[in-house]
Amino acid sequence: MTWTKKLSWMKNENIRPYVFVRDANKIAYPGRLHWVDWFPQDPLVFDSLSLKNASFGKRISWIEAQAFKDSDMAMPGWVFYDCAVMPGVVMGFAQRTSTLSEPVAEVFEGAPDCEWTPLSLFIPIPTLSQNEWVAHNLTSINALLPKKDKFYGLGFLSKAFGIWYANIPVLCGMTQWGSPSIPLHSHYGVFEILTAYTPIHSYAQTLTYRCTIKASLWEQFFTKSKAAPFFADQFELSDFQVDPIDEVSLQHFQGKIEKKEGPFYFSPTDLRTQNLKKPIPVYRRKPTGQGFLA
Ligand SMILES: CC(C)(COP(=O)(O)OP(=O)(O)OC[C@H]1O[C@@H](n2cnc3c(N)ncnc32)[C@H](O)[C@@H]1OP(=O)(O)O)[C@@H](O)C(=O)NCCC(=O)NCCS
Repeated sequence: MTWTKKLSWMKNENIRPYVFVRDANKIAYPGRLHWVDWFPQDPLVFDSLSLKNASFGKRISWIEAQAFKDSDMAMPGWVFYDCAVMPGVVMGFAQRTSTLSEPVAEVFEGAPDCEWTPLSLFIPIPTLSQNEWVAHNLTSINALLPKKDKFYGLGFLSKAFGIWYANIPVLCGMTQWGSPSIPLHSHYGVFEILTAYTPIHSYAQTLTYRCTIKASLWEQFFTKSKAAPFFADQFELSDFQVDPIDEVSLQHFQGKIEKKEGPFYFSPTDLRTQNLKKPIPVYRRKPTGQGFLA
């Protein structure tokens, strides 16, 4: 990775990756599957079932609650515990509380104190499907900070750290059309759309994706270079686009998925460079494609 000045916070010794996990869910061989040298620091590991770490856990929930309150999707404490802490792993970056800047400390006003303060959270959960995990939540404190105080790349790097640390080969996830998180989610690998219209979710305009992880592409999020050759080599435009603000278009896309006309994919470059409220080109694999690992 070319470390730009904007990423200098990653070299601050008072900021470390963290893993908040119960003993039974600890990752046996962290960082073995994907080759990246982005996370040389030993992570802080907190036992998520221990009372002594409860205030750290409360601070994780605190950030999430602030960031999601406007969309009415903040996790109640029982969802955090039953659906995240128990089945999965919570990861992200944390800063030594005594070194927090004033704007960051202000975010936590009212939250219980602890030696380290989480700045982000990423919660992947393994599924019954072989190799597939589900990204249950991604939140960065950047969503709550003025521009000048943000930790550039914190959201992207938190998810990258979690995928790397937990050796996740395939990651599904859910997000809402138009969300600024879509460019992030699509930069971890091959980004396939599983649902375009999802009425059983609280928001029918939710898209579900499955991302086959390819760590060699991650840097492109920062370099913003044009499409990686592998994408142009292996994917081609389909005969339709999806209009993310048109429910009929989402249902049309959903129909095509259900009729097994896909699988369908998005180009990370398109999502990083275009207005997410404008129609998005949909791709398929080229018939001659050898698979992205080839
Ligand atoms: C979405 C989220 C995780 C992104 O994390 P982040 O730390 O803000 O983003 P990063 O610093 O990693 O990424 C930086 C890039 O994303 C862009 N970005 C991040 N949030 C954005 C927003 N709300 N609107 C527009 N662009 C945004 C930045 O402009 C920057 O792009 P640039 O390199 O072209 O300047 C964070 O904003 C967040 O927690 N949001 C609230 C919760 C949420 O929506 N989570 C996603 C659920 S699926």
